[in-house]
Amino acid sequence: MSFSNASFDFNDVLIIGGGAAGMSLALRLADQAKVTLLTKSSLKQGSTYYAQGGIAAVLDPEDDLVSHVEDTLAAGAGLCHRDIVEYTVSRAREAIDWLIAQGVRFTQEQTGHNGVPGNYHLTQEGGHRHRRVIHSADATGKAVFESLAAQISAHPNIRCISDCVAIDLLIGAKLGQRRRGCLGAYVLNEDSGQVLTLPARFTVLATGGASKVYLYSSNPESASGDGIAMAWRAGCRVANMEFNQFHPTCLYHTQDRAFLISEALRGEGALLRLPDGTRFMPNYHPQAELAPRDIVARAIDAEMKKTGCDCVYLDITHQSRDFILEHFPTIHARCLKLGIDICTQPIPVVPAAHYSCGGVMVNKNGQTDIEGLYAIGETSFTGLHGANRMASNSLLECFVFAFAAAEHISTQLAATELSTALPRWDDSQVRDSDEDVVIAHNWDEIRRFMWDYVGIVRTNKRLQRARNRINLLQKEIQEYYSNYRVTAPLLELRNLAVVAQLIIESAITRKESRGLHYSLDYPELAPSAEDTVLIPPNFLAAK
Ligand code: FAD
Ligand code: SIN
Repeated sequence: MSFSNASFDFNDVLIIGGGAAGMSLALRLADQAKVTLLTKSSLKQGSTYYAQGGIAAVLDPEDDLVSHVEDTLAAGAGLCHRDIVEYTVSRAREAIDWLIAQGVRFTQEQTGHNGVPGNYHLTQEGGHRHRRVIHSADATGKAVFESLAAQISAHPNIRCISDCVAIDLLIGAKLGQRRRGCLGAYVLNEDSGQVLTLPARFTVLATGGASKVYLYSSNPESASGDGIAMAWRAGCRVANMEFNQFHPTCLYHTQDRAFLISEALRGEGALLRLPDGTRFMPNYHPQAELAPRDIVARAIDAEMKKTGCDCVYLDITHQSRDFILEHFPTIHARCLKLGIDICTQPIPVVPAAHYSCGGVMVNKNGQTDIEGLYAIGETSFTGLHGANRMASNSLLECFVFAFAAAEHISTQLAATELSTALPRWDDSQVRDSDEDVVIAHNWDEIRRFMWDYVGIVRTNKRLQRARNRINLLQKEIQEYYSNYRVTAPLLELRNLAVVAQLIIESAITRKESRGLHYSLDYPELAPSAEDTVLIPPNFLAAK
């Protein structure tokens, strides 16, 4: 839908981002508030749509909450906040019940023998010692997305606006307004090129992660860390940005390097092999292929370096064709298109950037450091994931914190004023760019040096190189931003540069190896586990 300032009246809550976090928040709020749900490009352009494995929840009577908590803490390598883990895990069933009520069709057991209400099939993934991942075959995100999108389009209190990029947050303290906190956002309409001022009583960042900062990633293009960068510029603290997760198994193929091969294959017994067929994971961890993700990704990286091979292989050929077609139809079809029949052939795989464990610091309600501004989903840092997120805990976090934010916002709505006399975007001093190639070039350069210098294995020297590069690029990008009219690629590049800098600075700060951060210069674990908290220069100014 295209829109203008004049027609913008759904302004109780502005939700920036339409993935699992943003959509569920919109639905939880819509009976009490007028909500705008804003997305870049199409509504599908978030990680949610592509989620495969499923959602972690204790649903089997033989499983228990303590075990889910303990597995999450172990995967997080000592850095998870126990209170947040307990809080999240104990709310998983409510989230699943709600999704089922919204119409999500999870895969059911054919035999119904496991005693789970509704006999849902539960799969297993890395780090989980129990089957507790509820799923919709291998396309859970699509199933969730389609059900929630249908509910959203039918709700009169929700207005969806696509093809719009939020540029920056409107902060009352900076604009000399009576309300000092967040008052809305500046937004670029990608179709018209117009920048609009969107006021809102409450603003929520639900913009997803930042894994596109790496050359090879499982994420869609939208994952450029916009919410993290906007919050940082506005004056919010961010935490644990060095823990960018690399998924061990993305397809390795010249025509398709972004496609994920779900960890659920390993949950159903798939084995990792070297090109000569040898298994290697038992040499690295007692849980072998089902070890936490950081361990499996590092093991693959080490084997590739040791043997000089371009990829390793994931082998699920022990399962029957019927089983594979029932549980992994999407992966089967995608690989078959490229000439790989996963029923009879092993799948070439490599690790790729997948998930941002760090993000904008929030409390249990999803509130950031700035009054009126919330962050939920992958863009936030709640303390749940520690130094390495356990599989399928991400979608769970999206729902649990969306519910919490909805509850909190609802109680504040009546007492919170809307500031409408906000300044318009001033583009009187800028001109159209005649050098768009600079944007493409800088985007490529950042993603390459992040992959080479700030990847699975880090050193002081590589991190220092990355810091020098990003400092130079930041200056160039800032100059470009000040002189030229904004476009979506320029805005994404500007944000990508901010998150790259935050990742590099966080990685330099951590003088140990823990979870996803592995340094050859500091291979040991420090005696105490501390979050890396970065404080922006304008931290107090926004308060
Ligand atoms: P997203 O779903 O990424 O949505 C972000 C939204 O923000 C998009 O609508 C985007 O357009 C919008 N946006 C971003 N910037 C702006 C801006 N500046 N202006 C306007 N809009 C903006 N997790 C699990 O728990 N289980 C799984 O099985 C699983 N499988 C995965 C498979 C893949 C291939 C990938 C990539 C991830 C997977 N994950 C999984 C992780 C999980 O899918 C994500 O962490 C989760 O979906 C994030 O949801 P979100 O709502 O925070 O963000
Ligand atoms: C997968 O299906 O392997 C992805 C699961 C996740 O990222 O949690």
